[in-house]
Amino acid sequence: MAAILLITSLVTIILSSISLSSTALSVNHYQQTCPKAESTITKVVKNGMVNDKTVAAALLRMHFHDCFIRGCDGSVLLNSKGNKQAEKDGPPNISLHAFYVINDAKKEMEKMCPGVVSCADILALAARDAVALSGGPTWDVPKGRKDGRISKANDTLQLPFPTFNISQLQQSFSKRGLSMDDLVALSGGHTLGFSHCSSFQNRIHNFSNKTDVDPSMNPSFASKLRQVCPKHNNAKNAGANLDSSPTVFDNAYYKLLLQGKSIFSSDQALLTASRTKALVQKFAASQEEFYEAFVKSMIKMSSISRGGTEIRLDCRVVN
Ligand code: HEM
Ligand SMILES: *[C@@H]1O[C@H](CO)[C@@H](O)[C@H](O)[C@H]1NC(C)=O
Ligand SMILES: *[C@@H]1O[C@H](CO)[C@@H](O)[C@H](O)[C@H]1NC(C)=O
Ligand SMILES: *[C@@H]1O[C@H](CO)[C@@H](O)[C@H](O)[C@H]1NC(C)=O
Ligand SMILES: *[C@@H]1O[C@H](CO)[C@@H](O)[C@H](O)[C@H]1NC(C)=O
Ligand SMILES: *[C@@H]1O[C@H](CO)[C@@H](O)[C@H](O)[C@H]1NC(C)=O
Repeated sequence: MAAILLITSLVTIILSSISLSSTALSVNHYQQTCPKAESTITKVVKNGMVNDKTVAAALLRMHFHDCFIRGCDGSVLLNSKGNKQAEKDGPPNISLHAFYVINDAKKEMEKMCPGVVSCADILALAARDAVALSGGPTWDVPKGRKDGRISKANDTLQLPFPTFNISQLQQSFSKRGLSMDDLVALSGGHTLGFSHCSSFQNRIHNFSNKTDVDPSMNPSFASKLRQVCPKHNNAKNAGANLDSSPTVFDNAYYKLLLQGKSIFSSDQALLTASRTKALVQKFAASQEEFYEAFVKSMIKMSSISRGGTEIRLDCRVVN
């Protein structure tokens, strides 16, 4: 028994040092080679947010999608080429937008320090800036990601679905080295932004043979959603904000979740396991504890690596 434990922990240590060495991220990565990279990216993100209040949410979600498919390697930023459809054109791309902010920041980087700052790093920094500039926490982003050369629309089917239950969510996160605690903290990203009707349709129409509406949803909240999203003929842009303050990075998401006012089944699912439910309660009670946990989990998520190989010169096309 002790021998098995020893071997298991040795294997764990070896595996984690392999993933560390292939990642090799550092907060000082551009200190010598491009000292103004971060402040310039922040300026571009700030400008984007002033012109369009939906930019912050878009950048945060874009980074999540990037990291969950092939690691954080900028694969989400690549354009489709000919009949080769990229992630951008994959099915769950609904509401991915504001790619222009990343492309603008990249242009500034290429003027300032050509060939140095990866698109994957720009996106990780922009996501951090989006959170901080929305009133949320800030943190030092480890940098040094390389950009990948592969982006496939079909890969996006590996993203978690909004209809997932707690075991499906756990599986999706643990495949990427993320825990149940990370799941609860990162779901707090749903304090920003908007969802189209199609993403929560399952909860408000024909939920089960017994009931049309998910019984775990607050009834008056459900009827409001049903008004905005009738069963047929949804307007293309119809939908709902993910919480009551969709441009402010706060802990309202967790408070609403406890009241049955979350948007996705995957949000509601956090209340179906005792450990995750306790964390939701903790974050609803303390914004500070949420911030602290979110920062820790974001650094973990944004370090998922599958080994990109280049510093792309244009985030939309491989070199
Ligand atoms: C736990 C699994 C997750 C699922 C199933 C999920 C699912 C979704 C869905 C379906 C949408 C709405 C798409 C639409 O209809 O327009 C959405 C929006 C969003 N998600 Fe998630 N998500 C998850 C985790 C995350 C994580 C980890 C983050 C970031 C830390 C995140 C950040 C966002 C943001 C900011 C939006 C709003 C986007 C916008 O307004 O443009 N999500 N998510
Ligand atoms: C999402 O995919 C559709 C269908 O392929 C495509 O028309 C649309 O431009 C894509 N959206 C983004 C933001 O790339
Ligand atoms: C597309 O992705 C799904 C889910 O990951 C997989 O089952 C299927 O085989 C893939 N199809 C192609 C053509 O790669
Ligand atoms: C989640 O869904 C999967 C697939 O439908 C099912 O096998 C599993 O038992 C479900 N888990 C829970 C906790 O409901
Ligand atoms: C509702 O769902 C059931 C299966 O759960 C299906 O048989 C039925 O056709 C659906 N009804 C409508 C109106 O979509
Ligand atoms: C729901 O109803 C459909 C047909 O109306 C039936 O085939 C299915 O087994 C029912 N599902 C449940 C969970 O009772």
